[in-house]
Amino acid sequence: MKLTQADFEARRLKLAHTIGPNSIVIIGTNPVCYRNSDVDYKYRADSSFYYLTGFQEPEAIAVIETSDTSGEYKYTLFCRERNLEMEIWNGYRAGLEGAKTLFNADESYVLESFEEKIVDKLSHAEKLYFRVGHDSDFDAYLANIIQKNNLTLTPLQLDSIVDEMRLIKSEKEIALMRKAAEISAIAHTKAMENVRIGMMEYELEAELHYIFGKNGCVPAYGSIVGSGSNGCILHYVENNKKMEDGQLVLIDAGCEYEYYASDITRTFPVNGVFSKEQRIIYQLILDAQLAAIDAVRIGNSYRKPHDIVVRILTQGLLELGLLQGHLDDLIADEEYRRFYMHGTGHWLGLDVHDVGAYKTSEGSRCFENGMVITIEPGVYISPTDKTVHAKWRGIGIRIEDDILVTAQGPQVLTENVVKEIDDIESLIKSAAI
Ligand code: GLY
Ligand code: MN
Ligand code: MN
Repeated sequence: MKLTQADFEARRLKLAHTIGPNSIVIIGTNPVCYRNSDVDYKYRADSSFYYLTGFQEPEAIAVIETSDTSGEYKYTLFCRERNLEMEIWNGYRAGLEGAKTLFNADESYVLESFEEKIVDKLSHAEKLYFRVGHDSDFDAYLANIIQKNNLTLTPLQLDSIVDEMRLIKSEKEIALMRKAAEISAIAHTKAMENVRIGMMEYELEAELHYIFGKNGCVPAYGSIVGSGSNGCILHYVENNKKMEDGQLVLIDAGCEYEYYASDITRTFPVNGVFSKEQRIIYQLILDAQLAAIDAVRIGNSYRKPHDIVVRILTQGLLELGLLQGHLDDLIADEEYRRFYMHGTGHWLGLDVHDVGAYKTSEGSRCFENGMVITIEPGVYISPTDKTVHAKWRGIGIRIEDDILVTAQGPQVLTENVVKEIDDIESLIKSAAI
């Protein structure tokens, strides 16, 4: 299933209703990012721009205007003209006609005429919504246009409105995210099946990316394949070490399917069997994760899973002698942060760390139907931490799943990849035969 123009149009209509009459929205997409001589980084449109337009080409600005009658809106797309010479080199362009026929724009113009056209549009509007602070050059450019032309407009933050829309996923978005999660689960399963002592971390990364690519996906973020104490480096992306007997390997990787992200972490033994210490820490984290997932319910604060994780991990670390003191003091003083220094989850959607406020004027946000959040506790024991027994040092474990909030309770979109110790060991063992 793919999103259609009707979906993007419905989003624009909803936005138009939210901003009310005599308002104008201006939103641009991402620039092309230069890599080196004649080579650019693979292009990806800005998520909020894509959310409202479905338009994936660079060099584009969308304008949505409401009139004083409200309800109706006009959609203008500024984009690149067709240019057969450039298209031979760089690919197809929708052009000004395509902006209307394929992307449902009411008007379309080349970017070069943006200033002239926007002055006219702004002169009829009372409120201007744009992404204040998103691109300082564009902010200055708009401010200059407003000043130069003596326009009297109230500038307002667009992101807060679009972010709220993006936070609650539609049925179609959920279907796309489910698909992304399923593909990532297959990739993680393949990685577990293929792990061998002496393999390089990047070989496992290649297994994951092969599955992503075979299914029309790209990585949603830099894949992490960290063996041994590399698992303690939260954003380890070198993925260039040999995986040794006795080590765990932590894989944090997820694909992006039709622009929608997934985000999975699994940690498993390179030789297929958890050591005693690895097993103890792993089970502690898994217990914390399962309890936290169970708290992803409508009406619960988004902080509740984190508070649950912190309490279970701190209690466990205390019992193991990795922390000393009283449970409540260790929590109040955040002593657990020596071993667990990140949050327990984030919204997931078009971005891996998706938009949406975590706090509202009433305090911490509560879960609502259609939100998707990751739950990703971990424990990272530095290889150089002389305050703990040597047997614990260098263990880095995280377990991460993607959870959809539903009226029936938490739904784990990434459930197809095993995480119980016995299941992981059996999978690796049976694949090695
Ligand atoms: N993969 C990024 C994260 O887990 O937040
Ligand atoms: Mn995550
Ligand atoms: Mn992750």
